[in-house]
Amino acid sequence: MTDSKKNFFQKAFKNNQSVFKMVEDNQSGESVFSTNYIPDQIWHREDEMRQLVNYFRSIITHPTTSNRRVILYGVVGTGKTVLSRAFAIQLSNFLKEQENSRNRPNFRFFHVNCRKTKTPHLILTTILRQLVPGFPLRGFSVEELLRMFTLLLYEQNLVSLLILDEIDYLIPDERIDFLYALSRIEESPPMRNNHHLGYSKESEESRFNLLTITRDPNFRYYLDDSTSSSLGKNIITFPPYTRNQLFDIISSRAEKGLQESAYDDELLEVIASLAEENGDARFAIELLWRAAKLADQDFDSRISAEHIRRAMVSILPMEKSIVEDLNIHQKLLLLSIAKILSKDRNFVTTPVVQKEYQRICEEANIHPRRQTQIWSYLKDLGKLGLIQQEVENRHRNGKSCGRITKISIRDLPLEEIKHSLGYLIENNSVEEED
Ligand SMILES: Nc1ncnc2c1ncn2[C@@H]1O[C@H](COP(=O)(O)OP(=O)(O)OP(=O)(O)O)[C@@H](O)[C@H]1O
Ligand SMILES: [Mg+2]
Repeated sequence: MTDSKKNFFQKAFKNNQSVFKMVEDNQSGESVFSTNYIPDQIWHREDEMRQLVNYFRSIITHPTTSNRRVILYGVVGTGKTVLSRAFAIQLSNFLKEQENSRNRPNFRFFHVNCRKTKTPHLILTTILRQLVPGFPLRGFSVEELLRMFTLLLYEQNLVSLLILDEIDYLIPDERIDFLYALSRIEESPPMRNNHHLGYSKESEESRFNLLTITRDPNFRYYLDDSTSSSLGKNIITFPPYTRNQLFDIISSRAEKGLQESAYDDELLEVIASLAEENGDARFAIELLWRAAKLADQDFDSRISAEHIRRAMVSILPMEKSIVEDLNIHQKLLLLSIAKILSKDRNFVTTPVVQKEYQRICEEANIHPRRQTQIWSYLKDLGKLGLIQQEVENRHRNGKSCGRITKISIRDLPLEEIKHSLGYLIENNSVEEED
């Protein structure tokens, strides 16, 4: 073995050196930066937690007539998922500790991420499999599954909370129908007069509560009137975190996962100020984690500002893979929007996007898609949270004269999009895909 190789291994394994410290079960402190990690403390969301407790108070006070519907809205990384899970776990623990009076329903919650569990059918079978192990994956319609679910709530004497996280990922048509069906769930026919269960259901009885989580500010407009009236009133908005709040969040992660000598407050302040623009806690945590990994890679015992700069270059506030997974035309549309918006515009309309897209296609030697396909791709980009679309009714002399769609990009740096997708134009030999 040569000297340089020896040095390499000596450096790498010297005192098992890492900026991450060891935590319980001999695990690396790196685990506190993972997406599954549930923090001991959720910072600066007391008000939102209080609102949740208030809205769902009836689960405790009137479990058999509780049918609350609540929407959580907030941009990327504002703590919607972590708070909703903590809320459900705390509620569950609280109810377990309560003296169990006879016949008091047990509380069950189901957290479903619609980005992973993509259809209403799969959502319902996933839930039913938790209530009935081995429940078949196929063979029932959504309507039948809903009926079975309500029936099981009675049979197993449960009061339930369904958390539909990242609802924006359900196909819009399915989402509307599913939310409508859920808003009517307590009216499912088989629940009436269940004499075989030994009682007759009274019409106001309900054991189903729903918490819907969205990033889309226009969520309300997707709902039809009746769903909107039952779902739309109770909205809790999660504001983006401020710099000081982000500091507290990453500071407690650093304390848990990093060696004390590997960082200081000044370093965390740099990260908090970089993440401040979007108020995104996930971005701040990931930035700290990546900087720590780079320090380890360089065999440095301290994380430096340079590590942060390098870490910064390697991430976008949103998962990069979402952009990478787009098809070529969706990418070109995103690039067109970014190009126009970077000329200091707050929003752009669909015809202007289309024109720029056609120009770019020509430049890149790619056959442009037709208008209806473009609309559908723009919808996809909206669903993925990459762009925001707002429909505005136009008026002239007090009369309505049509609608325009204002498209904007809120969560992604325009320069980064232009930089990472610009190659599509430069490289004329792009292969066309569907
Ligand atoms: N107030 C907080 N205190 C401690 N950690 C937090 C807080 N808010 C968010 N986090 C952490 O930041 C990361 C992102 O939070 P979370 O996943 O809840 O965001 P989100 O609003 O659901 O984002 P998205 O819209 O992308 O799903 C998670 O690792 C979470 O643990
Ligand atoms: Mg989330």
